[in-house]
Amino acid sequence: MSDHLLEVKDVTKVFRIGGLLFGTELVAVDNVSLSLAKRAPSILSIVGESGSGKTTLAKIILKLQEPTSGDVLLEGKSIFGCHLNRDRLAYYRAVQPIFQNPFETFSMRKCVDSYLYDTALNLKVAKGRKAARDIVADALSSVGLDIKGVAGKYPNQFSGGELQRISVARGLIPRPKLIIADEPVSMIDASLRMNIVNMFLSLKEKYNVSFIYITHDLSTAYYLSDYVAIMYRGNIIEYGSSDQILTNPIHPYTELLLNSVPTIGKKWERNLRLSNIELRDDKNTACKFASRCPFVQPVCRQNKPPAVQVPGEREVLCFKPVDYALDRTTLDQGSEKLTTRRWISLGDGSC
Ligand SMILES: Nc1ncnc2c1ncn2[C@@H]1O[C@H](COP(=O)(O)OP(=O)(O)OP(=O)(O)O)[C@@H](O)[C@H]1O
Ligand SMILES: [Mg+2]
Repeated sequence: MSDHLLEVKDVTKVFRIGGLLFGTELVAVDNVSLSLAKRAPSILSIVGESGSGKTTLAKIILKLQEPTSGDVLLEGKSIFGCHLNRDRLAYYRAVQPIFQNPFETFSMRKCVDSYLYDTALNLKVAKGRKAARDIVADALSSVGLDIKGVAGKYPNQFSGGELQRISVARGLIPRPKLIIADEPVSMIDASLRMNIVNMFLSLKEKYNVSFIYITHDLSTAYYLSDYVAIMYRGNIIEYGSSDQILTNPIHPYTELLLNSVPTIGKKWERNLRLSNIELRDDKNTACKFASRCPFVQPVCRQNKPPAVQVPGEREVLCFKPVDYALDRTTLDQGSEKLTTRRWISLGDGSC
């Protein structure tokens, strides 16, 4: 039996853009590996700017898209290996999505409670509507809502925050082991965001459910998660515990993010938009961040960076020094001092 609830193994997703003759390929997810342990529920945040591949990765984990290569394992078993309805049912009992826009999750022409009943019946959590009512009521109460206040109402009769709670309740119906929440608070009023984020924390403890929380918002990621994976142009460029990554980042891109996103909910595209040059060399064989990196070295333009294991379950895709902690104090004093940090030796004297 696997020790992992979820394992994402070397997953790559390539999209073909344009026609067969003049089209090009876009690597949306590039050789990503991640795992969630089974022993205790945990929250992993996947953080990255727009277009970094977060949703594509989420869709692959949710079986909504197949990877070009690589595999996803739930409790040791490939989720793509079998297409039987029985397996599909088992999968969606264990893994549930929460999407970004609650107003798109529910049709305006259907009462929202009917979605909850459908979920209970379709996933065979309840045998009939009467049994489903108890399950729906229970799921709603676990997100702080009363079934009487929800029954028979349409989406436009709720606020965004309430609707997102209802969509969390829908996800809880099969008592999943894992919830994949793709930017679940970005469309919600700032004042209500922390309610939802706090709710995830209490659901994790109460129902033993793990979360993959996808966001562009480092503040909620830091607050909520046990682990953080930073995505950049399809790669996970830094992974580790949220404390380590957000208080003592190693990758220059993580540092840039931390310095440029002081406020909740602010997207990064304005400060960190990819230049045309970067978009053109999408299939480069060097570090994808080289053209934006303040610490770029010749080696970064020649070789792909290694995945460096740093003590404390951390991994960084960078040639940067592993003894970063020694230099942290100088880092805080001024950016020019960063260049004095030591670099990993490739053994060929190139850096
Ligand atoms: N079906 C598709 N066909 C072609 N390209 C796609 C497709 N889906 C996504 N992409 C491209 O893949 C890249 C990653 O997209 P993705 O939606 O995963 O990013 P994201 O990190 O979720 O961004 P955002 O923060 O804006 O939601 C983007 O360049 C996007 O244009
Ligand atoms: Mg997205």
